[in-house]
Amino acid sequence: MPTASEPSRDCPLCPRLVAFRETWRAAEPAWSNAPVPSFGPREARLLIVGLAPGLRGANRTGRPFTGDYAGELLYATLIEYGFAIGRFEARPDDTLRLVDARITNAVRCVPPENKPTTQEMRTCRPFLSATLAELPGVAAIVALGKIAHDQVLAAHGERLSHFKFVHGARHRIGGRNERGEVALFDSYHCSRYNTNTGVLTPDMFRAVFAQVRGFLDAEG
Ligand code: URA
Repeated sequence: MPTASEPSRDCPLCPRLVAFRETWRAAEPAWSNAPVPSFGPREARLLIVGLAPGLRGANRTGRPFTGDYAGELLYATLIEYGFAIGRFEARPDDTLRLVDARITNAVRCVPPENKPTTQEMRTCRPFLSATLAELPGVAAIVALGKIAHDQVLAAHGERLSHFKFVHGARHRIGGRNERGEVALFDSYHCSRYNTNTGVLTPDMFRAVFAQVRGFLDAEG
């Protein structure tokens, strides 16, 4: 059932992504091959925003960050900082549950080579805006990568030039809109590429979530 925050299974909005989806539906009929819905409770105070589903990860399993390397690091870190419980087994029917956290993607469909176009990001942004609107208690957002950072700013009506993406930075955004202020935390994306090249180490990633944990605990 499509909603303002979740595109329909056959969302027609981005022709290039529709064609890619059709190709993979034919090649791998057992995969999800559909827009990947957000995951986690709507009462969450933390929203984590990724880039887009990985071809053999979320696009296959239908749950964000499930089935590829990025998810291994993300979910282990979330468990460590109390934002998830249970056992992550890289399957949507494992026992992993998010606690006070929800995960979404800036672009909901898998893009070729993990690279959505500017137009695709813009076209998908209303789903991100609606996702934010349906989280009444959101106090913190973690943007995984600059694209997620920019999309969150745009969804809040903020000027991109006022908030530079810096790993480990915390920005105060949203003060001028009716939803109120939110703390935006930047992190390099937890992709295999970033960890293999040393752009992001597990300790650097942990430090971001330690900061978020401290911030939310102080909020009470
Ligand atoms: N899987 C997702 O769901 N999002 C990403 O950004 C990467 C992998």
